[in-house]
Amino acid sequence: MVDLSSRNPDWWRQAVIYQVYPRSFADADGDGLGDLKGVTERLSHLAALGVDALWLSPFYPSELADGGYDVADHRDVDPRLGTLDDFDAMTAEAHRLGLKVIVDVVPNHTSHLHPWFQAALRAGPGSPARDRYVFRPGRGRRGELPPSDWQSVFGGSAWQRVPDGEWYLHLFAPEQPDLNWEHEEVRADFRTTLRFWSDRGVDGFRIDVAHALVKDLAEPLRDVSEFGSTGEEALERVPPGTHPYWDRDEVHEIYRDWRKIFDAYSPPRTAVAEAWVPGARRALYARPDELGQAFNFEYLQAPWDADALRQVIADSLATAGAAGASATWVLSNHDVVRHASRLVLPPGTDENAWLLSGGHAPRTDAAHGLRRARAATLLMLALPGSSYVYQGEELGLPEVADLPTAVLQDPIWEQTGHVRKGRDGCRVPLPWTTGGPSYGFGTAGAWLPQPEWFGSYAVEAQAGAEGSTLELYRTALRLRRKLLDGETLTWAEAPEGVLHFARSDGWRCVTNVSHVPVPLPPGEVLLASVPLPLDGTLPPDTTVWLGA
Ligand code: GLC
Repeated sequence: MVDLSSRNPDWWRQAVIYQVYPRSFADADGDGLGDLKGVTERLSHLAALGVDALWLSPFYPSELADGGYDVADHRDVDPRLGTLDDFDAMTAEAHRLGLKVIVDVVPNHTSHLHPWFQAALRAGPGSPARDRYVFRPGRGRRGELPPSDWQSVFGGSAWQRVPDGEWYLHLFAPEQPDLNWEHEEVRADFRTTLRFWSDRGVDGFRIDVAHALVKDLAEPLRDVSEFGSTGEEALERVPPGTHPYWDRDEVHEIYRDWRKIFDAYSPPRTAVAEAWVPGARRALYARPDELGQAFNFEYLQAPWDADALRQVIADSLATAGAAGASATWVLSNHDVVRHASRLVLPPGTDENAWLLSGGHAPRTDAAHGLRRARAATLLMLALPGSSYVYQGEELGLPEVADLPTAVLQDPIWEQTGHVRKGRDGCRVPLPWTTGGPSYGFGTAGAWLPQPEWFGSYAVEAQAGAEGSTLELYRTALRLRRKLLDGETLTWAEAPEGVLHFARSDGWRCVTNVSHVPVPLPPGEVLLASVPLPLDGTLPPDTTVWLGA
């Protein structure tokens, strides 16, 4: 059994971390927007679920141009979400319940409302204030063209012109100017931020777009058209470290510096990188003298196919192990289509086209999606390493694919000129009760409309209900705590389309990813993702945990 007690400095290596998207979790003050008091009031749900920690997406002052990832002050709470006292109360209650607290750090950019950016705008070209960001003159005879062809992840040029004629870089929304990490004040300010939250008792950090901080700003700026693609997918094809703004080698210095801060606390503060980079490069962020862990998006992106899953699992364990990190697993988060829907989209489906069709083309079968989601979850929770679960997945929530475009808040919708629908469909506020004004989310409405069917997925409908997805998660997490052992697995012989592995203590996990029933291997059934038939078979889209 692994020691998950609060004093164990390695508590995070095989923890289950629950992601709270604060605006959509629980609304205590009835303004339609979730808040920190709402989180505190609902922490008992997380304790009953049996997770080890919660990770809060940003709750900092923000005009919400990008759901809070546009931070105007990294060391305060947005007044609509509460106060620093509310944050302290939440942390104290979480710790009382045995839950660790992880907060998001957004170091690549600030909000354009951040005092530094406002000062930069006022100070004019060539001023030291502009040097904290990336300002450049334009190309073309009158500087009317952007300084390079760099593209925003959210669509369009990554450069925005200001009235005096200079351009500034924003790899995300124009309201999110990129910081200049070659500037010592920027580095110093983030050290202060890490200490600020660590001193308040925060146990760890999730580092937003950890692979973007350092850019190649040598003149002339290099265009990215030579890479054939402007997105992170170009990284698969270019020599590592050569892209002008993704995954540059120099970024690792920053994390080695941060590690010294983390290790000055007892237990050391933990960190996980959000870095959309290929496996072996991703592991560099997770080295013990850097962040310790990195999100493994390859597992999230893997199709529901036994060979693909086996390969991704093996590769992930190997690369994490070689770096001295523990592996991470994630199926859903606030940026992707919820896995109860995604796993039944036919291979090759354009997810954006599916969202634009309101979830009608292709039509997905919710019951089948839930079945696969439950099987995928039990598989994930049996793997060595940490699992990150996203609020609402413990209810089996599907994506809300039919949000009317008039209510969309994600900047992607506007920035792509209504081409990409964006990520709002996984951010709809949670249903806690089967009825009421916002299904128990708050006393008033919700900032994104909840569909009528939401009530049937509510916590109230599932708590104590035999066979519910919530009870499956609770049972799985309870069992997992007892079963956890070394960070390795051994593959067992299995028919085609079936994954079968044993953990070091002999506990086994079998998932049937094929379309036909297969013989259930011998052993005591500890847990199954759906009730098993009595004929000794393991049906399709089912996971079972077997005793040693
Ligand atoms: C990360 C966040 C995403 C945000 C982006 C810019 O990818 O997960 O939600 O939009 O960074 O901060």
